[in-house]
Amino acid sequence: MNAPRPPSRTLQIRKIAGSLGAEISGVDLSRDVSDDVLAEIRAALLDNLVICFRDQVITPDQQLAFARRWGEIHLHPFMEGMPDHPEILAIVKRPTDKKNFGGSWHTDQMFSPAPAMGTILYAKEVPSAGGDTLFTNQYLAYETLSDEMKKIAGQLRTVCVGDNFRAANGLSRKERYARQMSEMKVKDPGNVQTTSIHPLVRTHPETGRKVLYVGGHVQHFDGMTEEESDPLLNFFKAHSIKPEFTCRIRWETNSLVFWDNRCTQHFAINDYPAETRIMHRITVCGDVPF
Ligand code: OGA
Ligand code: MN
Repeated sequence: MNAPRPPSRTLQIRKIAGSLGAEISGVDLSRDVSDDVLAEIRAALLDNLVICFRDQVITPDQQLAFARRWGEIHLHPFMEGMPDHPEILAIVKRPTDKKNFGGSWHTDQMFSPAPAMGTILYAKEVPSAGGDTLFTNQYLAYETLSDEMKKIAGQLRTVCVGDNFRAANGLSRKERYARQMSEMKVKDPGNVQTTSIHPLVRTHPETGRKVLYVGGHVQHFDGMTEEESDPLLNFFKAHSIKPEFTCRIRWETNSLVFWDNRCTQHFAINDYPAETRIMHRITVCGDVPF
């Protein structure tokens, strides 16, 4: 574990589960955030992995200004941004849509050579109940492995893809989304690299702690067939989402959640068939995992 950080001076931090997640109050993200408060938010993110700010009334430009304080914006290679804000992806599910975006365990843009450091998701319209998001702590997933399994995991590398997933029964992203998510527009990634190989155990560049870096984009281990990979890969995937490693965010309109993709996975629950859910999503660029 890291040395405990000094208490926040401006923010109030309330943990929402034993393993990760906190609600943060005491800051208005529609205004310029000072460097000191930004440092407190960074400490809260590193300590809690997922932080939720309630009742934030912000415009797309204000969400972007906040996101830019953390780094460059990571543009999704497959998803069309909002017409007037190409850096923001509108995640929309309507009552006629059968599937939702992010409805399986994953970490964002893991198929990129330098996956997103974090995601800043803002709730514009939420169902009366349902549409929560689950998160899981991948430091704990690593730390709870036996010493022998840690050694094996430390030697493996994962092959991650952004399209034509094994689980998609031969359908491309474009075909699946056109059938099931009417308002999510898929584009051709052009020259952008969307298959990448990463270490299964990565070191968080800011905390120095090791993480079990696994998620739905992983297809098999590098240098192994799918058949050879599956028993261990399925074990790592199942282990990494044990209930005791998770928390659950219940959204309200104007909630803003910032998660650290380097040490978490998430899962958007599809349990609101008759209602609309609209979120504005920005991802911040990250480093090459090591
Ligand atoms: C995402 C995602 C989760 C949600 O934005 O990357 O997976 O709850 N969304 O909408
Ligand atoms: Mn996601």
